[in-house]
Amino acid sequence: MKTNTEKFGVTPHQPSLWTRADALKVRADDPTTTQPLVSADFPVLNNDVFIWDTMPLRDLDGNVTSVDGWSVIFTLTADRHPNDPQYLDEDGNYDILRDWNDRHGRAKMYYWFSRTGKNWEFGGRVMAEGVSPTAREWAGTPILLNDRGEVDLYYTAVTPGATIVKVRGRVVTTEHGVSMVGFEKVKPLFEADGKMYQTEAQNAFWGFRDPWPFRDPNDGKLYMLFEGNVAGERGSHKVGEAEIGDVPPGYEDVGNSRYQTACVGIAVARDADGDDWEMLPPLLTAVGVNDQTERPHFVFQDGKYYLFTISHTFTYGDGVTGPDGVYGFVADSLFGPYVPLNGSGLVLGNPSSQPFQTYSHYVMPNGLVTSFIDSVPTDETGTQIRVGGTEAPTVGMKIKGQQTFVVAEYDYGYIPPMLDVTLK
Ligand code: FRU
Repeated sequence: MKTNTEKFGVTPHQPSLWTRADALKVRADDPTTTQPLVSADFPVLNNDVFIWDTMPLRDLDGNVTSVDGWSVIFTLTADRHPNDPQYLDEDGNYDILRDWNDRHGRAKMYYWFSRTGKNWEFGGRVMAEGVSPTAREWAGTPILLNDRGEVDLYYTAVTPGATIVKVRGRVVTTEHGVSMVGFEKVKPLFEADGKMYQTEAQNAFWGFRDPWPFRDPNDGKLYMLFEGNVAGERGSHKVGEAEIGDVPPGYEDVGNSRYQTACVGIAVARDADGDDWEMLPPLLTAVGVNDQTERPHFVFQDGKYYLFTISHTFTYGDGVTGPDGVYGFVADSLFGPYVPLNGSGLVLGNPSSQPFQTYSHYVMPNGLVTSFIDSVPTDETGTQIRVGGTEAPTVGMKIKGQQTFVVAEYDYGYIPPMLDVTLK
């Protein structure tokens, strides 16, 4: 019998492993892989809402695309509640940190536009209330399909469950701004299967989200990356020799790291429109290393596949650690084998003096890295913080072979287009 991968003409592959030995090479505060300090006097894009994961409009090849000279970004967004009694502390002051920490439960997809690739103007919600089938509209990717302005928004419909979905609409421009029309019918694409990707029934802390569709520059087919965990009951995973890697004497103890089971998933489309998908085995697994490899995405450069994914300190397993930030892996072909960039995988981490300053980094093909401000300390001890919920300064990075280097810093939320499409 033919396996699914053979049926669709895709090479069967073994997932590449991010090993504990690789992770032992992570060095926080290496200046070449550390985001410059974000100052606590950052500007806030909009005082009525928190924004976090930022998704630039792009084409299927990964190019950040403007339309009629307008740049467009989508963001996960939630209202701020400075006057809601629920978010006032005992003294009647707004407990912004609690409001911020609760944001995931009410995340909605919003869009913003700009003539300059920064200073984003508020567009509004992409889908009207009631269109999305679940409580939370979590991260994904808006794809500009053609010069008629058609957009496929792939995202994650969460609670109940976690389903990768898409909704089609259109971007419309005028001299004065941008609007989104349509986005009225959400189509469920797929959920975790329990065989390759862990389900909620197998682990209440499972992750299955963050679709990133793309056209493979080599075979021209439509694929999608996503975040997952390796299938199996929570606690049943084995952290064996392969997952441990080549560690020095004294580093063989894996503690309870069997609970860390992140993977980068991949699916292939059966049709040209991307309405019908087949999940394939993960591209990369991090069993025994880390429990979350979020918002996976590619940069295709120099004939190589640069795979980036965001991760946290708190999701590392026992005996390994690293900063919140973006990690990367490189391969000569889509299905690997992938090797960690910079030896360890760490590409751009927060400085240890400001461990939560930014998150949800997105590496664009021009080497620019956008992220959002989470919280920045306002005193020496780090006990006082200022919550962000806004765009962080963009970082410029060079990608060379198996290494990356921080080389520049730009304005807050600077996401310049790489292509402009004139709408017909
Ligand atoms: C990353 C992330 C995504 C998820 C969203 C939820 O910051 O955890 O994986 O879609 O945030 O708010």
